[in-house]
Amino acid sequence: MTTPSSPTSPASSGLTDAAPPGCPAHTGASLGAGGLRRLYGSEADEDLAGVYEKLRAEHGPVAPALIHNDVRVWAVLGHSENLHMVRTPSQYTRDSRVWSAVKNGTAGPDHPLAPVFTWQPMCSFVEGAEHQRLRGAVTGAMAGLDHRGIRRHINRYSNKLLNGICEKGEADLVGQFAEHLPMMVMLHVLGMPEDYSDRMVQAARDMIKGTETAIASNAYVMEALTRHVVRRRAQPEEDFTSALIAQPQQLTDDEMAEHLRLVLIAAYEATANLIANVLRMVLTDPRFRAQLSGGQMTVPEAVEQSLWDEPPFSAMVGYFAKQDTQLGGQQIKAGDGLLLGIQPGNVDPVVRPDLSANMQGNRSHLAFSGGPHECPGQDIGRAIADTGVDALLMRLPDVELSVAESELAWRSSILSRHLVSLPVTFGKRPPQDVSARPMAQVPAPRKNWEVSSPLPEALEPSAAPAPQPVPTAPAAAPEPVRRKGAWRRFLEWWRGY
Ligand code: HEM
Repeated sequence: MTTPSSPTSPASSGLTDAAPPGCPAHTGASLGAGGLRRLYGSEADEDLAGVYEKLRAEHGPVAPALIHNDVRVWAVLGHSENLHMVRTPSQYTRDSRVWSAVKNGTAGPDHPLAPVFTWQPMCSFVEGAEHQRLRGAVTGAMAGLDHRGIRRHINRYSNKLLNGICEKGEADLVGQFAEHLPMMVMLHVLGMPEDYSDRMVQAARDMIKGTETAIASNAYVMEALTRHVVRRRAQPEEDFTSALIAQPQQLTDDEMAEHLRLVLIAAYEATANLIANVLRMVLTDPRFRAQLSGGQMTVPEAVEQSLWDEPPFSAMVGYFAKQDTQLGGQQIKAGDGLLLGIQPGNVDPVVRPDLSANMQGNRSHLAFSGGPHECPGQDIGRAIADTGVDALLMRLPDVELSVAESELAWRSSILSRHLVSLPVTFGKRPPQDVSARPMAQVPAPRKNWEVSSPLPEALEPSAAPAPQPVPTAPAAAPEPVRRKGAWRRFLEWWRGY
């Protein structure tokens, strides 16, 4: 455990000391300034989770470490330490303007992670009354969303994407499914035309990857959102944008565009990652194959397990200390930066002594963070993943990975780790009516998928309208996956099939 007086202690040496950016003596080595471990560079690119475990073994639940340009942070690795940090706004804030590395310029606007920590006037970066005002507007607008209607659209867009691949017998489920579905759904939620989808996916990818066109892509997204706000102020419709405009908090045009971008981009990236991870799990994890495990893992359970094992955001930069304090045995100084360690917190041996144990029914993972900033869109993210994966398995019940699992490539950074592609094969089949219920087609459905799934609690209707009859399948339709009970038929109706 680091002590305040040890040579590697950020408390003694000042958390914001930095090596010269790009210094050849440092770049690529796993140890940087002050002998601290780097969370970037070759070792971290290969196995960041392994670096976190070394840090945990060396320092305990809160460890000093380096992010790009050797800027020092406290990596919060413990589950309860992360929760304490996010739930204690009197000591820790998301307002990066208090970070000493920002104040002294070592984490300046040219820092590779600047897009995620640079302060902006939106709910993610503010606290107290201003946070309540901005977040209250977002959650107020979300409260009016028709979740059943959204599920119906998720199903429709899933079918549309599947129509684009079903005749080919092979696909990359990351590039052709997971990366498109959340954007199509979120554009619909915002009330924007579907035509934006491909360009928006391209722009969002650019912005997230920080390519040289990232600034132009950000400008494109902001212009499109600003135009959309102007249109909806003039002519409100039944969508999230109009609801956000109508909130009593009276967001300005800039605040409107900022929050629409936050919702669109955060939702896009996280949910695309989640779908890809769940699909990989479904294709490779024996727990999903009922006959092998003796138990059955439903799609929502696979989603939850994936949120534990492969959280869509692995860490966030971050939280900042407002005052001198202690966390996990470390002395934290006012102005220090702390990394919200979502992935390391989720595998903290204190809460998960056996990583292979099924986390069924346990939603206390850190994937959506916690405290005042806890993700307000988690039920929408879960709904997109559940419904999209469900629809895919219904349409392509014989889908198989076309490469060995060990050949799958990942792209990783401090912020997230995601699959580069997920190549699969399946029997060729004709497209379907996009508004129809996904229908298993020849070849015969695989018997060991368990695609029937309980509703996530928060989307369960408190006053559900009476179930309507499920439209019967056309006479020539192939056998459904299995005989359905009333509950399953209700679920299908609920999902909009
Ligand atoms: C699987 C999908 C998702 C994951 C894993 C995820 C995760 C997160 C995380 C980790 C945070 C940061 C919390 C913090 O600062 O401590 C966050 C914030 C946020 N998320 Fe999500 N998110 C997802 C989907 C969505 C969706 C679909 C929406 C909108 C419809 C959304 C809207 C937001 C907003 C507005 C915030 C800022 C909240 C605040 O600062 O008060 N997210 N999300």
